[in-house]
Amino acid sequence: MIQRDIQIDESGRLRHFLTTEGVKRQLLTEILDHAENFTAVGNRSIKKVPLLRGSTIANLFFEPSTRTRTTFELAAKRLSADVLNININSSATTKGESLLDMLRNLEAMHCDMFIVRHAQSGAAHFIARHVAPHIRVINAGDGSHAHPTQAMLDMFTIRRHKGAFADLRIAIVGDIMHSRVARSQIHALTTLGVQEVRVIGPQTLLPRKVENLGVHVYHDLPAGLADVDVIIMLRLQRERMTGALIPSEREYFELYGLTPEKLAFAKPDAIVMHPGPINRGVEISSEVADGPQSVILEQVSNGIAIRMAIMSIIMGNRFGDMGEQS
Ligand code: CP
Repeated sequence: MIQRDIQIDESGRLRHFLTTEGVKRQLLTEILDHAENFTAVGNRSIKKVPLLRGSTIANLFFEPSTRTRTTFELAAKRLSADVLNININSSATTKGESLLDMLRNLEAMHCDMFIVRHAQSGAAHFIARHVAPHIRVINAGDGSHAHPTQAMLDMFTIRRHKGAFADLRIAIVGDIMHSRVARSQIHALTTLGVQEVRVIGPQTLLPRKVENLGVHVYHDLPAGLADVDVIIMLRLQRERMTGALIPSEREYFELYGLTPEKLAFAKPDAIVMHPGPINRGVEISSEVADGPQSVILEQVSNGIAIRMAIMSIIMGNRFGDMGEQS
């Protein structure tokens, strides 16, 4: 059982950011509002603010990443923090050093925050429970459990395009079973009060009793896409599968791949999202991924602002504290 309240301190402030599950709507909204300031910073010629000057942030990525690692690094640098990118494959963990001993050494270097990606569900919680009291931990994706900053940048992207959450129908399509992104999105979307969250996929790629998360289940893509405002496509996460859960990628694309013809079942102004990496011709066609309804690259840009917002809130230095103006 993963302990969930470790991320909120006695005063109700965000101490770590490990999951969107159980986070109150007020705090999710505060993160989204705060990120708006940093979007404005990203549009300036000098994209830096001094909010985390003097802080040291360590990126600890035990699993591959393109978007999350680099946008965390950019976000930290734009907040004027010093950033350590630990190369796990060439670290002393390859010589038998334990994870906790590695963390103790980084603490001795006066790190203030660890950004953690790990293949094991619960890894970021484990680290948060064992670090020194002043250290903050952000979960950058743990196994199939949670990817809270991805979910928040997705909420930010949805709000920027669609405004209020209350009237929205949102479909999440594909390999929900192995998706930490889907879990974090479902918790955030239901807390933010969307009208309906649908999950669409073959039975083999949906978690048992997924309805208990407050979603509606569809196995037929056109039926599930009818009248939705937002479509979130997911890749097949083969690195977390233990057997063959689909007959073939070709058949999967036939049934669940998003093409212009299938997209036409959604509302005409529906947006198409994907956390990346995308697999063209497996879960999404190039016409849709690169088409006018796709906001996939916008999600990546928004990742910088949302991560700046989360890091500054966690460190207790909000935008405006040092006289910044958007
Ligand atoms: N969305 C996401 O987590 O992508 P990366 O694996 O490239 O970080």
